[in-house]
Amino acid sequence: MNIIEDLNWRYATKRYINKEVPAAQIDTLLESIRLSATSLGLQPFEIYDIRSSELRVKMREAAYNQPQLTEASHVFVFAVWTEVTEAMVDSYLQFVAEVRNREISQLDGFRKSILGFLGGKSAEEIIKWSSNQAYIALGKAMVSAAQMRIDSTPMEGFNRQVMDELLGLRDKKLHASVILTVGYRDTENDPIANAQKVRKPIHQIHRII
Ligand SMILES: Cc1cc2nc3c(=O)[nH]c(=O)nc-3n(C[C@H](O)[C@H](O)[C@H](O)COP(=O)(O)O)c2cc1C
Repeated sequence: MNIIEDLNWRYATKRYINKEVPAAQIDTLLESIRLSATSLGLQPFEIYDIRSSELRVKMREAAYNQPQLTEASHVFVFAVWTEVTEAMVDSYLQFVAEVRNREISQLDGFRKSILGFLGGKSAEEIIKWSSNQAYIALGKAMVSAAQMRIDSTPMEGFNRQVMDELLGLRDKKLHASVILTVGYRDTENDPIANAQKVRKPIHQIHRII
C-alpha cells in the first residue's frame, strides 16, 4: 500500500461499529503523536484518552450530538497549554540537557529565544500557538491510523468551553483544542462511507513562482 492509497482510503468517519482498536495499534498512534514536530520542541499539549462512557455521553452532547463521541473505539482530546511559564521552560531545558548530555548553561541562548518568542504572549495567543502544534500531531495520527486501516475523525465541532469544564481542564491550565476519534467505519449507517472524495484539482491549489 502506498501513502496516496492510504490517504484516499481514509475519510472523516461519521459512524463507527462497536469494535475495539487493539492496544498495540493505539500505542502506535500515541507514538506518532509523541514523535510529531512541535515549535521549539515544547510539545505543548496533553492527550486525554476518554474511557468513561458516561463522560462520552456528555461530550457527545457538547459536540452537537455527533455519534463518533460515543461510538468510536477511542476518543482522544488534544488539551493544549494556555500558558508557558519560566518554570515550564526551565524544566524542558533540564530535560533536553539530560537527554543530550549537555550542561544546562549551554542552553542559555535557547532559553532566551524561547522566552523572547513566548514571553508576553496573551493566553489567547498561547492557545493559538499550542493548538497549531496539536493540529500537526493530529495529522500525523490520522495518517498513521490510515496506514493501519484504522478509521478516524478529526473533530472541532464541539463547544470548547463546555468540554474544558467536563474534563476539568481549566484548573490544569489546559484547553480542549481538537478531538480525534478512532475505530472502524460502519459502512451500513455512515452516509459518507462510500462517497467520492471531494478535492480541488491540484492546479487550483499549487502555485509555482
Ligand atoms: C480540524 C478539523 C475539524 C473537523 N471537525 C469535524 C467534526 O467535528 N465532525 C466531523 O464529522 N468531521 C469533521 N471534520 C472532517 C472534515 O469535514 C473532512 O475532513 C472534510 O470534509 C474532508 O473530507 P474527508 O476528510 O472525509 O476526506 C473536521 C476536519 C478537520 C481537519
